[in-house]
Amino acid sequence: MGQVEWAYDLAQRLLEEPLPRRWAHTQGVGKRAETLGPILGAEADTLTAAAYLHDIGYAPDLVDTGFHPLDGARYLRDVHQADETLCRLVAHHSCAVNEALERSLYDALVAEFDQERPELVDALTYCDMTTGPDGQQLDVADRLAEIHSRYGPGHLVTRSITASTPCILASVGAVQSALAARQE
Ligand SMILES: [Fe+2]
Repeated sequence: MGQVEWAYDLAQRLLEEPLPRRWAHTQGVGKRAETLGPILGAEADTLTAAAYLHDIGYAPDLVDTGFHPLDGARYLRDVHQADETLCRLVAHHSCAVNEALERSLYDALVAEFDQERPELVDALTYCDMTTGPDGQQLDVADRLAEIHSRYGPGHLVTRSITASTPCILASVGAVQSALAARQE
């Protein structure tokens, strides 16, 4: 079984039944990743596998700290001995360091998982932040607004996404520029 199929099956097993909406989002993020072949080349499969796995830390069976990037990455590392690149991408997806700071888990996150190369980090953030909660494609501004309204003012996730907004916009912009350059 290839890495993408393995990741899809694992995410489906963990998310589909307990968290159907999260599974719909995950499928949308995975499909978005599959469109990045023109800029990622041979690494598109790794990115797609990470896209399917990025939110598995929400699965009730996995929740430990309650910080889903870290719970997901630790599960991949400890239970599946997954590829280090996949673990790193899941741990840091969509500028997770800011939520780690809010949760006092920054030291654990950066001690256990290094950052991946910027082109892969940006690509996963782009896929996640241009896909809505039901898997639909969204403009990044609409996605950010949707997160604000879903969690509401004052929520830890809202504060984290506000702190992450410059990082998210930079990643999305970098991928959009790279895609546009390929089309010229
Ligand atoms: Fe996430």
